Amino acid sequence: MLFPDYRPRRLRQSKAFRRMIRETVLTADDLILPLFAIHGKDVKNPIPSMPGHYQLSVGNLIKTAKKAHKLGVPAVMLFGIPEKKDPLATRAYAKDGIVQKAASELKNKLPDLAVITDVCLCQYTDHGHCGVVEGNIVDNDASLDLLARTALSHAKAGADMVAPSDMMDGRVAEIRNMLDENNLSHVPIMSYAAKYCSSYYGPFRQAAHSAPQFGDRRTYQMDPANAQEAIREVTMDAEEGADIIMVKPALPYLDIICRVRQEIDLPVAAYNVSGEYAMIKAAEEKGWLDGKKVMMETLTSIKRAGADMILTYFAIEAAAELSS
Ligand code: PBG
Ligand code: ZN
Repeated sequence: MLFPDYRPRRLRQSKAFRRMIRETVLTADDLILPLFAIHGKDVKNPIPSMPGHYQLSVGNLIKTAKKAHKLGVPAVMLFGIPEKKDPLATRAYAKDGIVQKAASELKNKLPDLAVITDVCLCQYTDHGHCGVVEGNIVDNDASLDLLARTALSHAKAGADMVAPSDMMDGRVAEIRNMLDENNLSHVPIMSYAAKYCSSYYGPFRQAAHSAPQFGDRRTYQMDPANAQEAIREVTMDAEEGADIIMVKPALPYLDIICRVRQEIDLPVAAYNVSGEYAMIKAAEEKGWLDGKKVMMETLTSIKRAGADMILTYFAIEAAAELSS
């Protein structure tokens, strides 16, 4: 294939040809919308660093979910902001907790929309860590039962799928056992399997009030410098019973998405996180780039890298763009 015998531009000359040879096609089916549920009535608190996103009381959350659903988005990912925090994150696994309420209402009102719940303790602990703290250490094994109880209470409330994001070792197996013992063997686990200790989570922590009150998450989330370790993490979670494995964040870790897609035979999700969203929104606000085009290019890139599904704050905008 050498010039002038081969001319790559031949197949780029018309829109029809370009459509015919397009390798990656993004659809609304690929998108999952993260939502923040908060107690109260008619609450819609704007999240400053995530324009277009809000902490939503259940009624308003359902309105937003409905909009996404109508545009063809198949699923939402629920995060909760509890009314109070304590050392053992008791509001994470309370029957009347915020995620439990939102999940059950959502399933009532929009039965065909898949409800995935984020399973973690950091929004619910007063210290803001994703597990139980002993001294100044996040105690892995002491956290497992609380995580499993959280996942169980979400599934009992009607969640279609649970998604542990804590990065404790062994939590997928613990959650799988807990669900199976409670006649919930049909509920899949989407594991945040390769979750990096990333500064791209900044806007999310503002939105969910989940910043650690001391130290950081380096003892449980992965070092951004590591790729081989991601394969080990993902393999472990697959062996423990994960049904979908996630790489997070997405854009700075496209190489990880690509490798995981090739090396692991499970559906791969990628999380286009809050900081990735905020950067594009901020640049758009300044008039420095075309937000809509960069959004579509970004999501297409994540899919091209190998993601089967993308968790993204752009889900509604992108689905609207795809149906226009
Ligand atoms: C909580 C959690 C975080 C995100 C999802 N679940 C933050 C963190 O680990 O500190 C980040 C999502 C985003 O930035 O969009 N474990
Ligand atoms: Zn957490």
